Amino acid sequence: MNFVCKNISVCERTGHLTFAGQDTVSLAEKYGTPLYLFDEDRLRENCRRYMSAFQKSGLPGFRVIYAGKAAAFKQMYRIMREEGMAVDLVSPGEIATAEAAGFPMELSYFHGNNKTDSDIRFAFDAGVGYFVAESEEELEAIEEEAKKRGIVQKVLIRVTPGIDPHTYEAVATGKVDSKFGLAIVTGQAEAAVACALSLPHVKLMGFHCHVGSMVFAEDVYERAVKVMMEFADDMRQKFGYIAEELNLGGGIGVPYTEADAVIDLDEKIASIAGAFRAVCAERDFPMPMLLVEPGRSIAADAGMTLYTVGSIKKLPGYKNYVSVDGGMTDNPRFALYRSSYTCLPANRMKEPGDMQCSVVGRCCESGDIIQENVPMPETLARGDLLAVCTTGAYNYSMASNYNRVCRPPVVMLKGGDSYVAVRRETEEDIMMYDL
Ligand code: LLP
Repeated sequence: MNFVCKNISVCERTGHLTFAGQDTVSLAEKYGTPLYLFDEDRLRENCRRYMSAFQKSGLPGFRVIYAGKAAAFKQMYRIMREEGMAVDLVSPGEIATAEAAGFPMELSYFHGNNKTDSDIRFAFDAGVGYFVAESEEELEAIEEEAKKRGIVQKVLIRVTPGIDPHTYEAVATGKVDSKFGLAIVTGQAEAAVACALSLPHVKLMGFHCHVGSMVFAEDVYERAVKVMMEFADDMRQKFGYIAEELNLGGGIGVPYTEADAVIDLDEKIASIAGAFRAVCAERDFPMPMLLVEPGRSIAADAGMTLYTVGSIKKLPGYKNYVSVDGGMTDNPRFALYRSSYTCLPANRMKEPGDMQCSVVGRCCESGDIIQENVPMPETLARGDLLAVCTTGAYNYSMASNYNRVCRPPVVMLKGGDSYVAVRRETEEDIMMYDL
């Protein structure tokens, strides 16, 4: 059988699905369901694929930043630290988690279109390396706080390059009409540069952009790097300012089903590096350090979710519903974006997928769907195990307690062993804040 990820296969003897070489049925028995699994070796391999692609590209300076919004918990930051990654943080919660995990905060980038004064103080207290600023007000607030503390704060300015990444609307952020960043065409990006350069406790390190997420279109990053370097050159001419860092954001797409394309990272990075080199040479601009900020392409295929099948409702002339013991509370992505997923009958992998069904969750909402038009064996029954692949990104991090459903634990798989990284939530946890 061919699977969407290399770390998934089937045991010939048992007919069970294996993930990272481990029997999913045994893992479900040991830890219960619903269950988030993370293949630690795959996570590390994904970091190394970025590092090695950049090394091969021959660029003089680069940095790979993990976008923690894809999946953030202490063990994740420990792994990122060990892999030499920097991290993107977007809230005091993410900052505190990285800090508690012992992450070197000088390698952190604090993002957000609306950092409150208290967020800014929180980030200063934690010693975040960089602020990625999105407005003049924010630059001024950073200046004020840095001045109070007698330090100079490194900052990047987030620019919207006006590029449509041909991705779905909710995650398209590089276009001008966006709540994120400062547009080049409106002159607001330039005004922010002038502002940053006038502030004595702000050190402008360069520019950032993020064109969107699940990007597959051919030349998006190549166009972005060109637009951004033209802007950097314009700023050199206007202010004599030379950017030292150019952060191209995240967004590289990953396959969720056999129908999705696979991006060759070596080729992609080489192509971006080529476009970057060309525009720098053309403009005789000293090459800044190039940064990227992947989240999904680090975490997605390292994850899998296991569920126990509950009621199966067959509606003659309509369709079949297979209910599982989780749903939109642990994976809201179909409900939000109609995202595709590969669902597999983990303990019946050798049986034919002769029943079409919708895999649905347990929440009191019709939109609580994991996936539609899923082939499952006709023999599927209550108590069977159902696996959803590629759930490592934006599942745990977007999970909720809707209907007061407890969130699943995160179990890491490593070299044939497994361990809990985040324990299962209990009803006591859910009531913890109720007075
Ligand atoms: N950098 C910035 C500034 C971002 O806003 C994002 C994602 C990333 C990096 C990482 O992008 P990635 O490599 O993961 O595509 N909840 C949505 C995705 C939202 C992405 C938001 N920003 C989903 O489940 O598809």
